[in-house]
Amino acid sequence: MATLWGGRFTKETDSLVKEFNDSLPYDRRLFECDIEGSLAHAQMLAKQGIISEEDGKAIHEGLLSIRKDVRSGKLEIGGGYEDIHSFVEAKLTERVGEAGKRLHTGRSRNDQVAVDMRLFARGEMEEVRAELLALLHIILKKMKEHEDTIMPGFTHLQKAQPVTLGHHLGAYFEMFSRDVTRLEDNIKRMNYCPLGSGALAGTTYPLDRDYTSRALGFAGPTRNSMDGVSDRDYEIEFLAALSIIMMHLSRLAEETIIWNTNEYRFIELDDAYSTGSSIMPQKKNPDIAELVRGKTGRVYGALMSMLTTMKALPLAYDKDMQEDKEVFFDALDTAHHCIVLTGKMLETAKFNEARMADSAGGGFTNATDAADYLVTKGVPFRDAHGVIGQIVLYCIEHNKALSDLSLDEFRKFSSAFDADVFEAIDLKTCVDRRLTTGAPGHAAMEEEIAASEKFLEDRKTACI
Ligand code: ARG
Repeated sequence: MATLWGGRFTKETDSLVKEFNDSLPYDRRLFECDIEGSLAHAQMLAKQGIISEEDGKAIHEGLLSIRKDVRSGKLEIGGGYEDIHSFVEAKLTERVGEAGKRLHTGRSRNDQVAVDMRLFARGEMEEVRAELLALLHIILKKMKEHEDTIMPGFTHLQKAQPVTLGHHLGAYFEMFSRDVTRLEDNIKRMNYCPLGSGALAGTTYPLDRDYTSRALGFAGPTRNSMDGVSDRDYEIEFLAALSIIMMHLSRLAEETIIWNTNEYRFIELDDAYSTGSSIMPQKKNPDIAELVRGKTGRVYGALMSMLTTMKALPLAYDKDMQEDKEVFFDALDTAHHCIVLTGKMLETAKFNEARMADSAGGGFTNATDAADYLVTKGVPFRDAHGVIGQIVLYCIEHNKALSDLSLDEFRKFSSAFDADVFEAIDLKTCVDRRLTTGAPGHAAMEEEIAASEKFLEDRKTACI
């Protein structure tokens, strides 16, 4: 197989070296981006008079025909070429002859792969962002449906205070909306075009880098050619963003798993998003959630892998950087699946409102409110805390909830109790009185929902 660099070599590459070195088996995924970059480069070369108009036209048409044939399946990417760049150039020369050999004027595979990866990453970032926005729409819908669905809020996985399911899900809205803005920041920072950096030191041809940047939708050309070919920060930032997304998804997955247990029964997963056991007929397992939780490690691994690959690399391009692709692609595929499936799992799950209310009623989640009640009657909070602590102990001994006590029983602990205590410790009252910004009370939740709606309203289009 002819390489792009055979001239100064007298021997064939060892077959093991070839297998070790070739990236076509995986960088074939950059095909569309490679064509896009080459179309822009050829157009610019012709505009600048570096190649003739006719050659520019022949290259343009040749690239379009290759793209058409690969898309339709008529032309298969393969054939033992070293990488996707060699494949495209070889096919182009086969189709348009001499002109094809002029495409690489003023370009190196170093800036070519740099622009391919940027185009690819940018497209994927937009896609992940769109998937996150779709997930946020599902979460917001559930937030609205369950604005008043009372459930226990937990700290240390112990029942703490009553909240609503809408409020609990609202926490995830915040997490994933931060992920969206994190991607938007990343896209803005990375959206500069390295094409024209050459191998590392630019080129002697009068390239118009502003033109190619604009043609490829970038904000402008990168400023330093050595950085242009060796910067992979955007991949690392993207992998960091994906890792945080996976961390958020895995928290939601973990809660789904816990809530789906026979003990909790807060949620019932749809049959289409659960799996069974080969031996235990009664089982319905939350495998999707478990896999999301499990695959999180894989995405973290990709981040660590890239950070380590780039560590201590001397300027400018080094072949080590070819190692970016497989882990990057794998992390992306993993994250795409996890985001989309989490949305579907959540959308189709049934929440057991009665169980949640029952559970909230049973775990002294209104104990803080009972203490706050005594404060309204003039008892200092520290004393009120002590009184309610004693009452809780009494309730545990007598297997009662606070709301099961009679006024007389309350008054045994403090004369400050009146008949209005029952209203004060009613779970609905407890939740609705939480009116601070960001709290689960109905009025505060209305504000949160309005802000969440606006967040999505402001993001109806792609971010660049
Ligand atoms: N396959 C290479 C990569 O992914 C493309 C750039 C190769 N450049 C070179 N001078 N060998 O990084």
